[in-house]
Amino acid sequence: MSWNPKSWRDFPIKQQPTYKDLDKLKKIEEELRNYPPLIFAGEARELKDKLSLVSKGKAFLLQGGDCAESFANFNAPTIRNLFKVLLQMNMVLMYSSGKPIVKIGRIAGQYAKPRSSDYEEINGVKLPSYRGDIINDIDFTPEAREPKPEKMLEAYYKSAATLNLIRAFARGGFASLDKVHKWNLEYVKNKALGEKFEDLADKITESLKFMEACGIDIAHTPQLKQTTLYTSHEALLLNYEEALTRKDSFTDEWYDCSAHFLWIGDRTRDIDGAHVEFFRGIKNPIGVKVGPSMKKDELLKLIDKLNPKNEDGRLTLIVRMGADKISDMFPPLLRAVKEAGKNVVWSCDPMHGNTYKTEGGIKTRDFEKILSEVKQFFQIHKSEGTYAGGIHLEMTGSDVTECTGSISSTITEEGLLSRYHTQCDPRLNADQALELAFMVSDIMKDI
Ligand code: PEP
Ligand code: CO
Repeated sequence: MSWNPKSWRDFPIKQQPTYKDLDKLKKIEEELRNYPPLIFAGEARELKDKLSLVSKGKAFLLQGGDCAESFANFNAPTIRNLFKVLLQMNMVLMYSSGKPIVKIGRIAGQYAKPRSSDYEEINGVKLPSYRGDIINDIDFTPEAREPKPEKMLEAYYKSAATLNLIRAFARGGFASLDKVHKWNLEYVKNKALGEKFEDLADKITESLKFMEACGIDIAHTPQLKQTTLYTSHEALLLNYEEALTRKDSFTDEWYDCSAHFLWIGDRTRDIDGAHVEFFRGIKNPIGVKVGPSMKKDELLKLIDKLNPKNEDGRLTLIVRMGADKISDMFPPLLRAVKEAGKNVVWSCDPMHGNTYKTEGGIKTRDFEKILSEVKQFFQIHKSEGTYAGGIHLEMTGSDVTECTGSISSTITEEGLLSRYHTQCDPRLNADQALELAFMVSDIMKDI
């Protein structure tokens, strides 16, 4: 059972690129191995402690961001707008639940994608599928689709710069509660939604005034002036993850320092596969996607392998069944984990089980289905006496038209192409994400 950052190489692996130039691959891996880590192990431990509060029902997890970040769309407004919406959602959820919200972005490294098929065929031309910007390019040409190891370096630099801006926003005053009125995005289309947030912002401003009157110096109170947005991605491309895995000099334990939190996708969670092997040895808090094909025994074995000491905060199970399946598929799994006494955080991904293609072939998701899966997730937890710990969303702060519906946005299947920019799966836009946060906060109040 010995483990090292390379031991995954002896196990069967899925969803990987086939690089042609293996010498170049080795050289790039070596270069990355010498680069500074992107996060400090102590931060990952801090996140694990916060997630342990979630597993005890004392905090709530909000995880969200792009399905796939893109090199082409790497710029400050994209990062800032996602940060703003997450801050708004944070406020909405915190205000209604009265609990701290643990915020994790699908950001600063979410560059590798599993695909349902290894090849894509258009008009009789067959090329390797796009696997995320860390691997190949999205254009449909043989040159673009060729996996290139040097793209790992670009992913590293872009993750570093993204993380740098996130840290600046989180610590430099942008996230200070006295700026709450500035987080509303200019293009929040729906007036009622914008006003609803303004009302909340007014209440927060009033509370701050009251605290100041009591003698609390807001400018010197870090809890009110600063926040933390942790980073996460699917650790799919293990060559990259291995190169960023480092032994922490304080504890002598291994951490994958490419992000604070990593997860295993629904397609690569085989108990005897390379991804589970890699994940069992890193000490970061980790997640596993739990889709409709998961069996009870398989889930319990996975939990034991990934969290053998049953540590609180170590393992988040991200349930993604689909609105039409969750009521059948989820309760037996939840009961099995509860009866076995396993400590996990339960989070709801209402996106990946609700994807469909329109008649015109556009991949989309309907807001009603997304909301329905979230509602059922909370109801099931209520009837089982367990805690619905978080939500995991594909969302953006940009004004896109990728998912249909919601009260605030009137996107129809016909209107999808007007601003359909995702590199992979359809995301909630800023309005839809904020609206969902208000709805989740209502569900929390009712339950
Ligand atoms: C994802 O989160 O982008 C993803 C591919 O999810 P899943 O593994 O649940 O399909
Ligand atoms: Co996705």
